[in-house]
Amino acid sequence: MALIHLQGVTRTVELPDGSDLRILRGVDLEIDPGDHISIVGRSGTGKSTMLNIIGLLDLPNEGSYTIKGKDVKTLREGQRSRLRGDTFGFVFQQFNIFNTRTALENVEVPMLYTSGVPFWKRQGLSADMLTRVGLGDRLDSYPTEMSGGEQQRIAIARALVRKPSVILADEPTGALDPETGNSVMTLLETVAAENNAALIVITHDLKVATRAQRVLSLSEGVLHEVADPHTHFTDSHDTAAQDTEVNA
Ligand SMILES: Nc1ncnc2c1ncn2[C@@H]1O[C@H](COP(=O)(O)OP(=O)(O)O)[C@@H](O)[C@H]1O
Ligand SMILES: [Mg+2]
Repeated sequence: MALIHLQGVTRTVELPDGSDLRILRGVDLEIDPGDHISIVGRSGTGKSTMLNIIGLLDLPNEGSYTIKGKDVKTLREGQRSRLRGDTFGFVFQQFNIFNTRTALENVEVPMLYTSGVPFWKRQGLSADMLTRVGLGDRLDSYPTEMSGGEQQRIAIARALVRKPSVILADEPTGALDPETGNSVMTLLETVAAENNAALIVITHDLKVATRAQRVLSLSEGVLHEVADPHTHFTDSHDTAAQDTEVNA
């Protein structure tokens, strides 16, 4: 049984003028523990929408989505948000951490709503995780006092502190210089491998994309396997290729 299985998943939203925008038109995807996949595709093709559905932040209109065989449609909202917290860790391009909280307090956030983790234990787990990402000496620093790479490390520590079985990263290196992005990817891969977690990375960057075992492209609302990522990225019709050239 797959860890994650999407079959024919669609997502349509209604635009202000009353027309329908069909973002996802039938996404099929199977992920097993320990898999590392990249998702590429032009801006606006629905990559974030798909990641939000996978991470239980949004629901499909049609099709089926199961997590370890459990159909997410059958879950009540409370069950769904519990399953989200127990299963997924999120990393975003803009870090999405709180500037008014210290590094340690930021990493504690995902545990604030889980029952049965006492205060001292939360602190210990968070400090251990920050040490793991190389910020053991910055526990009491505020994000504004830290570099972009360090802020993304806080976000990674926060995403991983509950040992998720799936890490969802939406352009995790998009705001970082290539060298820092590289070390952030190495960190994500290392920690994912330690826990046999699946790692799903949306990226515009050929170098980041080709670190994965599989590269998938989202276009026309459907996922396609990319046999040769280098060719895909040099297709002049693809804005991802242009972004890559700008970043090079
Ligand atoms: N809730 C929404 N209402 C209206 N349009 C949306 C909504 N969510 C996403 N979109 C549109 O759907 C398309 C896909 O968005 P997104 O998933 O963010 O794409 P990507 O991450 O690939 O750039 C975009 O055109 C976006 O403007
Ligand atoms: Mg996006």
